Amino acid sequence: MRMYDIIEKKRVGNELTAEEIRFFINEYCSGKIPDAQASALLMAICCNGMTMEETTELTLTMERSGDILDLSPIDGPTADKHSTGGVGDKTSLVVAPTAAAMGCKVAKMSGRGLGHTGGTLDKLESIPGMICEMSEDMFMQQVNKIGLAIVGQTGHLTPADGKLYALRDETATVMSKPLIASSIMSKKLAAGCKNIVLDVKYGSGAFMKTKEDAVELAEIMIGIGQKAGRRMTAVISSMEEPLGHNVGNSLEVIEAIQTLSGDGPRDLLELSTTLAGLMYSSCFDTPFEKAKELALETIRSGAAKDRLRLMVKAQRGDSNLVDHPECFETSRFTQVIRATQSGYVTNMDTEGIGLASCILGAGRETMDDAVDYSAGIQILKKTGEPVQVGDTLAILRTKRERSLRDAEDRYLSSLTISEEEPEKEPLIYKILEG
Ligand code: URA
Repeated sequence: MRMYDIIEKKRVGNELTAEEIRFFINEYCSGKIPDAQASALLMAICCNGMTMEETTELTLTMERSGDILDLSPIDGPTADKHSTGGVGDKTSLVVAPTAAAMGCKVAKMSGRGLGHTGGTLDKLESIPGMICEMSEDMFMQQVNKIGLAIVGQTGHLTPADGKLYALRDETATVMSKPLIASSIMSKKLAAGCKNIVLDVKYGSGAFMKTKEDAVELAEIMIGIGQKAGRRMTAVISSMEEPLGHNVGNSLEVIEAIQTLSGDGPRDLLELSTTLAGLMYSSCFDTPFEKAKELALETIRSGAAKDRLRLMVKAQRGDSNLVDHPECFETSRFTQVIRATQSGYVTNMDTEGIGLASCILGAGRETMDDAVDYSAGIQILKKTGEPVQVGDTLAILRTKRERSLRDAEDRYLSSLTISEEEPEKEPLIYKILEG
């Protein structure tokens, strides 16, 4: 078999066989196929797509490229939730403890933020002392004991994805549904949970810009998961504006704690109870509406917040902050952004807002960049809200005073204020059950 022929076959739009896909992944991982040829195939896939069979084969081969976690020592139904990424998306910090308090075994592997989107690990590590790296044994012991662990990848999972993702990032080939679906699903399958709930975002802050594209991506991932024997559900949710009011690591943890204390923003509560409800409903075969109500009750009773405190303690973080979020370290420099015209916020370029937060130090451009945990943005006016001249639109927080002007420019250029009140789309477009 020759890589050249495989590239040529995909370039003219033909379907690759399972053997050809396995040849590509295995030989590329062992260093026998150069980046130039791998990039050419990725570009051909971007342009011509893949069938469901090809995408599934690609995913399963990537899954098998490294260790596969065996969660059978965990006693009870294992559940995971994955978001395709967004700005201000701190749902994992609310959903995971809520689902755990409801009885799901949440064995969650999360990533760091890159570019305009945040990552759960960075948010958790803004809690002083918090450890998100642990051995497989410790991971399972913690899940068995308190029903919940959120960690970075343990062991050597899906090295093929690590290699391919880096190449896609350099070759403008990230934006392909089969490549995104196989990248996400190979990691989720290797991480071992039986019940997987996906939050597939659409809009200005998401990979998928339209609802239709998000539905298509979700359907591909559901199909792959089902073929691999997992119970799959997906929520299609809007990223046309940041979720909640806070963007930035410790600011997002604070907002998640407020939500678990019954005092969070409505959109975050709605999405979080939907996702926790779906995890429960998948684990215990309960009708979704009942499960969602139970999720809400679990938050109202304080049981979900208790579970977060237990997790922070188990992972050696300062659990006092769960009860006293006002004690998080704050940024030295702040800047209030005020409205210079009256009207309504009619549009938010969510990616631009994420980038403004990165400029302040909350995110990273490359994986080696350091993160300022206390940096970020508090958003006071979101889409649909009326504004008067002089109203506070947002507050910027940073340790780097010099970044304030750039971040303010970026924030303001991401906002549209017009006279006419806009029609606001619902946060949740659809729920797809596999
Ligand atoms: N997240 C991933 O893990 N992979 C992608 O390709 C896109 C988003």
